[in-house]
Amino acid sequence: MSYAIIGFGKIGQALAHAFARKNIDVTVASRRPPEALAPEALAIGPRVVAKSLRDAIEADTIILAVPFWEHREVAKALPNWEGKTVIDATNTFGVLPEELDGLPSSAFVAKAFTGARLVKGFNHLVAAILAADPIVEGGHRVVFLSGDDEDAIAPVADLAKQLGFAPVKLGKLNEGGALVHARGRTWGPLIFQDLFKKDQ
Ligand SMILES: NC(=O)c1ccc[n+]([C@@H]2O[C@H](COP(=O)([O-])OP(=O)(O)OC[C@H]3O[C@@H](n4cnc5c(N)ncnc54)[C@H](OP(=O)(O)O)[C@@H]3O)[C@@H](O)[C@H]2O)c1
Repeated sequence: MSYAIIGFGKIGQALAHAFARKNIDVTVASRRPPEALAPEALAIGPRVVAKSLRDAIEADTIILAVPFWEHREVAKALPNWEGKTVIDATNTFGVLPEELDGLPSSAFVAKAFTGARLVKGFNHLVAAILAADPIVEGGHRVVFLSGDDEDAIAPVADLAKQLGFAPVKLGKLNEGGALVHARGRTWGPLIFQDLFKKDQ
C-alpha cells in the first residue's frame, strides 16, 4: 500500500507524525510546491516526503486533510478515482445540511471522487491529540471509521492499527457514521471523545 496526505496543515501534519513514528512512508502535498513543504516534512521524519499534488495522488490510499470545500478542487485532479481509497478526515461544522444535499458530509465528498472507495476517519480528534503518541499506558487511542463500502474499511483499519490506533468501525455513513459527522452547528456525539481501548 502507498499513502498520501493531501493538506499539510494541522491535521495533515498530525497524521504525518503518526506515519513517521512508525516509519511508514507517506507523501504529503498541498497547493504549495513540494519545495515549500519539504523542510517541515523532513522535520517530521525522513520518510515524510513532499510531492506535488499530481504526484502524491498516485498513492493508492489518500487522506483528505483540507478545508471541507477544498475537497472539490482535490477531486478535480483525476477524472476517475477507481482503484483508490480516500480517507476523509474533513469536518463540516457550520455547513448547512441543505448545502450538502441533505447527505452526511462524507457521502457528499464521495460524490466528488468518482469511483473511489471512501472511508471517513481520523476526523474526530483535535490535531494536537491526533499528533500525540496513540499508545498510552494500558491502551491504544481509538479512531472511528465509517463508510458505505465495508470492504474499504478493513484496509483502513489495518493502517490505523499499524499507526498504533485502535480502530472502531461504526458502519455506514448515515448510520453509525452519523455519530462522527457534524450536522449544521451540532457535532456528532463521538466527535472530540478521546477514548482508549485496552490491550486484550
Ligand atoms: N484542526 C483540527 O483540530 C481538526 C480536527 C479534525 C478535523 N479537522 C478537519 O481537517 C481538515 C483540515 O483542517 P486543518 O485544521 O488541518 O486545516 P489547516 O491547518 O488550515 O490546513 C489545511 C491544509 O490544506 C491545504 N489545502 C487547502 N486547499 C487545498 C487544495 N485545494 N489542495 C491541496 N491542499 C489544500 C493547505 O495548504 P495550502 O494553502 O498550501 O494549499 C493546508 O496545508 C478540515 O476539513 C477540518 O475540518 C480539523
